[in-house]
Amino acid sequence: MVKKYSVKELLNKGKLFIDKKVLIEGWIRSFRYSIFVTLNDGSTIQNLQIILSNKLDKKLIKKITIGSSIRVIGIVKKSIGTKQYIELQSLKITIYESVDPVIIQKSILQPKKHSLEKLREQAHLRFRTNIFSCIMRIRHHIAFCIHKYFHEHGFFYLHTPIITTLNCEGTGRMFQITTMDLKKKLVDYEKDFFKCKTYLSVSGQLEAETASLGLGKVYTFGPVFRAENSNTSRHLSEFWMIEPEIAFYHLKENINLAENFLKFIIRYIIDNSMEDLIFLNKYLEKWNQKKKNYLLEKLELILKFPFKKISYTEAIKILDEEEKKKNIKFLHPIIWGMDLQSEHEQYLVDKYFKIPVIVFDYPCSIKAFYMRMNNDGKTVRAMDVLFPEIGEIIGGSQREERYDMLLQRMKDTNTDKNKLWWYLDTRRFGSVPHSGFGLGFDRLVQFVTGMNNIRDVIPYPRTPKNAEF
Ligand code: 4AD
Ligand code: MG
Repeated sequence: MVKKYSVKELLNKGKLFIDKKVLIEGWIRSFRYSIFVTLNDGSTIQNLQIILSNKLDKKLIKKITIGSSIRVIGIVKKSIGTKQYIELQSLKITIYESVDPVIIQKSILQPKKHSLEKLREQAHLRFRTNIFSCIMRIRHHIAFCIHKYFHEHGFFYLHTPIITTLNCEGTGRMFQITTMDLKKKLVDYEKDFFKCKTYLSVSGQLEAETASLGLGKVYTFGPVFRAENSNTSRHLSEFWMIEPEIAFYHLKENINLAENFLKFIIRYIIDNSMEDLIFLNKYLEKWNQKKKNYLLEKLELILKFPFKKISYTEAIKILDEEEKKKNIKFLHPIIWGMDLQSEHEQYLVDKYFKIPVIVFDYPCSIKAFYMRMNNDGKTVRAMDVLFPEIGEIIGGSQREERYDMLLQRMKDTNTDKNKLWWYLDTRRFGSVPHSGFGLGFDRLVQFVTGMNNIRDVIPYPRTPKNAEF
């Protein structure tokens, strides 16, 4: 039996394999001079060069086409070419499926430049392209190191329900779930599957809070759903969120955790995904007119300085002064009490501070009911992490742990206390100060890979009017 290896294993330990017989499988990327096949199996951005034996049957050679899936047994040799260290001299080649070259020409597998929009239309095939496979490998490494970070810092991974009766954030629409026939005029939800109206969850936070009040440190990592009609390059209707929740944590500790956590992830990706980052860097230089070393410098910048921390009130003051001083006209006027729009966030991060900014103590009127009220009675202990190009990447807060205050905030925000009786109840059984945040996973992948559109960093994006694949 000849042992099977991935292209990555072979190329990484090239020297050790020289003159060894190996088995390799993958898809053909190119075929030149009836002898050189480049093979990719997805394990790495690099291809393996295969030298076909000159005794191959003509009929078989005809079947060696771009996109075809093959199995090769061969001997690893030091390459004469300069492009690669090793190559494989084939002894036996089996074709799983030979692809018709005419079909390939119409697909994104045809080796030439295709737009990212075109790749999205053939999302089922884009895993085979250099650009998308790079992004997917990086996506994996980010997810992996998130679990690693929390595990090493004593957090427990918590699975919160996807089906819920609540809108934790209190804003935006939710996707309803039902087994009822909604064509009927009067729908009696008492007869629905769960005996009540249910939705896909927008956040696992409230449940994570209850768990943190027993386990100390927990985090969730799962899909969340929002039926907002935001057709932007940063919004998905189904996206992945990481929500740590920590008992006995005040806002400042929460802010520090967010910063350390983000820096750990960026560091990990620089240390572990360099090959893919270099490819993306070149891609962005070539096709997106980004300046030389754009991506790597952007990532290094995150690590270089402490994030800037300013209160919402200070942020408003800066924006107001800048507007007056520099004759800038924001589309949305700067008034204390308004929500920061992307134009404001971008101004603060990309133009003013030029590093990530954490804004805290927002007006209570624009934030969710669960955030802890400050002594001024006007602001809550919220915090948003704003990143270059992306804007808000994290939203979090210290939670209102005082029963009476929480009840009051629920009343003020028209939050149904009957549905949330269990959440309120935790404030009567040894309540403690606690905090947490939500990191938009897809936005983070977008930042790390330098993609303009969030639809290009998730396998099958769900956006308004689009649930294909
Ligand atoms: O600010 P959000 O709405 O916060 C929450 O959901 C809290 N329950 C989190 C917590 O405190 N545990 O969302 C958190 C993050 C945002 O900062 C953003 O990065 C991302 O989720 N996000 C989206 N990402 C992609 N598409 C969307 N439609 C998103 N909406 C929010
Ligand atoms: Mg938010």
